[in-house]
Amino acid sequence: KKLVFATKTQPLSTMATDEERVGNVKRQLAKLFESSLRAIVPDESDVEPLIAPCTGKFGDYQCNNAMGLWSKIKGKGTEFRGPPSVGQAIMKNLPPSEIVESCSVAGPGFVNVVLSKSWIAKTIQNMLRDGIETWAPQLEVKRAVVDFSSPNIAKEMHVGHLRSTIIGDALARMLEFSNVDVLRRNHVGDWGTQFGMLIEFLFENYPNLEDVSETAIGDLQAFYKASKQRFDDDAAFKLRAQQAVVKLQGGESEYRKAWSKICEISRKEFDKVYQRLGVKLEEKGESFYNPYIPGVIKELSELGLVEESEGARVIFIEGANIPLIVVKSDGGFNYASTDLTALWYRLNEEKAEWIVYVTDVGQQQHFDMFFKAAKRAGWLPADDSKYPKASHVGFGLVLGEDGKRFRTRSSEVVRLVDLLDEAKSRSKTALIERGKAKEWTEQELEQTAEAVGYGAVKYADLKNNRLTNYTFDFDQMLSDKGNTAVYLLYAHARICSIIRKSGKDIDELKKAGVIVLDHAGERELGLHLLQFSEVVEEAGTNLLPNVLCEYLYNLSEIFTKKFYSNCQVVGSAEETSRLLLCEATAIVMRKCFYLLGIEPVYKI
Ligand code: ARG
Repeated sequence: KKLVFATKTQPLSTMATDEERVGNVKRQLAKLFESSLRAIVPDESDVEPLIAPCTGKFGDYQCNNAMGLWSKIKGKGTEFRGPPSVGQAIMKNLPPSEIVESCSVAGPGFVNVVLSKSWIAKTIQNMLRDGIETWAPQLEVKRAVVDFSSPNIAKEMHVGHLRSTIIGDALARMLEFSNVDVLRRNHVGDWGTQFGMLIEFLFENYPNLEDVSETAIGDLQAFYKASKQRFDDDAAFKLRAQQAVVKLQGGESEYRKAWSKICEISRKEFDKVYQRLGVKLEEKGESFYNPYIPGVIKELSELGLVEESEGARVIFIEGANIPLIVVKSDGGFNYASTDLTALWYRLNEEKAEWIVYVTDVGQQQHFDMFFKAAKRAGWLPADDSKYPKASHVGFGLVLGEDGKRFRTRSSEVVRLVDLLDEAKSRSKTALIERGKAKEWTEQELEQTAEAVGYGAVKYADLKNNRLTNYTFDFDQMLSDKGNTAVYLLYAHARICSIIRKSGKDIDELKKAGVIVLDHAGERELGLHLLQFSEVVEEAGTNLLPNVLCEYLYNLSEIFTKKFYSNCQVVGSAEETSRLLLCEATAIVMRKCFYLLGIEPVYKI
């Protein structure tokens, strides 16, 4: 019953064709199965192969079309007797390919595929020679906006913004790697009624604007709190603050200047955090879209979407119990007016096909509503599988050890900078305990402590399904055991050290060396390496960084437990091949680190 294909391998020296460059096994198999499926149902133009990796002992991948196909063709004069016979036919029609070593049909018609060892080996060799970029997914979308981080001016960035920043950065990196032109947008909360109070408070304390320096109101959270206190306590202040909003919106120069000053100081604080986290963003805050709002509201009104309700102007959304307010009863604009306008701008001016918003799940309803409004306006297609598309990437809460929202002991919001400081200092202490202060220069120690400390904070966040809440726990995230960045970074460093200690010139080996996957551990590692491309594609298209984390952790486990503990590398007869496998693992791990925004370390 088993079909065995003759495998023909080409000599390594020939350049890889574009087709071979594609490291995506699923896609390659899909191509093969598509032609086979067409042969069975010739009139069916849309035969979409259902290919999935499988863990069983019967194969590496599976084609699951037989059952579905059977239900379509049964009773229509078909010669098939049931799904297994459809499966047999799918298998027999498969064109010969060097990818596939053998196939078999199991159960209700699954077609199991065993990949050719030599093809796996060759594909890895090609990657080593031509670079990991040749394994980059090619997404359908050409340009995307990722709207992330987006803190509010005069407020401290806290741990909630940390989630948006690191999840958004990882998504942007994955899409960029997948050949999408990504516009990284910081939708800073730099507009709104709170500015009246802030400006009034600024005037009160610094009659001369020139005197305001970064240090004077450096602690913006304290500044915000103090002005809020004044606002709540003093009716006269409150009135002035409300008038200040009107003057600011009317464009009065002193007010605009004070506003810019506050934004500028805030921006500097945010930038320090982005620098530390290695995150790049382009600020287009809420104020950027102000000039476009009236035009957009006009367009929506002309489309008949905007209605009058209790003095406000609103858009009614099907299935929602409250309407979306786009012009408040006082004539002012709000969060939704700005977001609708930003969406309009991103679609029309920036020509983005996919707009991704990263905020806590608490804002889900806001996004649902204005996405629906955009669909009603015809800006977005009703069908979510079509582009242009808008996606809300929600995430859960960060919890403290008490299981409640993460706070400091004095129940203040936790400042991001303090977290980063502590992560770094803890990882430095751990390195010193391992005797690294004697081995390394102070600079090496500092750099490694940062890479490990910040990496640990990021990974602890990214490894969870983003929708779930997670508990912030330094001890856990900085442990060198289990699924942590520390464990992974050390594993990578150890692989680098195996290569270094071999004394071989790995770049030379990459040019001429041949990979052989005869041992089960070698083969398993090789197959997992090959799955990198399809995993990045899945993580990117489904906006789930945890999928990539899981892959990375499994890679490290397979390397250590299946390969390295069974296959001697240095000094063995297979040394060249095994060193190349070490190198390929290190390269794929580094790419994963990069995509997750984590800095690798090379020695430990
Ligand atoms: N500034 C908002 C907040 O801190 C997040 C903005 C998210 N982006 C957007 N386009 N609404 O909650």
